Amino acid sequence: MSTDFDFDDSDEPLSPLVVPTERDVEGTLRPKDLTEFVGQLKVREQLELVLHGAMRRGSPPDHVLLSGPPGLGKTSLAMIIAAELGASLRITSGPALERAGDLAAMLSNLVEGDVLFIDEIHRIARPAEEMLYLAMEDFRVDVVVGKGPGATSIPLDIAPFTLVGATTRSGSLTGPLRDRFGFTGHMEFYTADELDHIVRRSAKILGVDLREDGALEIAGRSRGTPRIANRLLRRVRDFAEVRADGVVDLQVARDALAVYDVDELGLDRLDRAVLGALVRSFGGGPVGVATLAVAVGEEVTTVEEVCEPYLVRAGMLARTPRGRVATDAAWLHLGLRPPSA
Ligand SMILES: Nc1ncnc2c1ncn2[C@@H]1O[C@H](COP(=O)(O)OP(=O)(O)O)[C@@H](O)[C@H]1O
Ligand SMILES: [Mg+2]
Repeated sequence: MSTDFDFDDSDEPLSPLVVPTERDVEGTLRPKDLTEFVGQLKVREQLELVLHGAMRRGSPPDHVLLSGPPGLGKTSLAMIIAAELGASLRITSGPALERAGDLAAMLSNLVEGDVLFIDEIHRIARPAEEMLYLAMEDFRVDVVVGKGPGATSIPLDIAPFTLVGATTRSGSLTGPLRDRFGFTGHMEFYTADELDHIVRRSAKILGVDLREDGALEIAGRSRGTPRIANRLLRRVRDFAEVRADGVVDLQVARDALAVYDVDELGLDRLDRAVLGALVRSFGGGPVGVATLAVAVGEEVTTVEEVCEPYLVRAGMLARTPRGRVATDAAWLHLGLRPPSA
């Protein structure tokens, strides 16, 4: 497992995390403005009000927090926010802000109206987080000069800016940090309809001959996640070019997805491993997430942030106070008879 959470070194077609070689194509497929951004109607409407209200007043908008599982469009939306405001975007991430000095350097370089994007903001180090409080509230930082009893802190004004934070776990943000965001957008998994729209748009950009039924099939197996939809489209295109005539229709999509081990619900190997362990080793639960993670040989954070949100949404897994529980649907999906039946 890599330490940078947003990377995925494995070659899992269904991982919602970015694979390094994918950066370029992701850039091409990224929606450039709010009209190109499919779905998330609620977040979009709320955000539009926040941005346009601020633009009318001629001041930088409130700080924005975007929360939700990987691959749902948080980074895209951060870029769109800057574009809508006509502002420049500075990008960093929680893990990169290990020392308060790293953040101070970043903040003091900001120009009025800039948008500062901090990805994985829940992983920011404590001293940097505390510096951020004052920066967000008063556009000021206290830079500590020297060490020990002789150390002095020098207040430094910074340009009014808008912070956009992204997190896959808003629950692990501290209260004081969360309170300093004026607006939080909760990103939801996408419907098959929305994913269909996204896949067809991507096919157009990539020049893939994608038929209506092929698009629907890919959309239905994308785990509610645009990043996965785009990746499956590219894998299916490979298959279509090598094993068929390049046209992606229902049959080609099905055959291709079978090769890549993507099941009808879009569950991937890890999802099925988690359900399998839960059902076979723990009788369907309840079992703690840490135990479950050990059973499938994964990190707890991966199981919690990547795997579980979609299993819950698909109605396969329930989180209870006593632990994780498999639903009847999970047993049935694995071809087993639920204990209640
Ligand atoms: N609402 C959307 N409409 C169209 N494409 C999207 C949308 N959200 C995400 N995508 C696609 O999915 C990819 C991953 O989105 P990204 O913003 O990087 O997700 P996150 O930062 O939440 O992990 C983008 O490159 C983009 O092509
Ligand atoms: Mg991102």
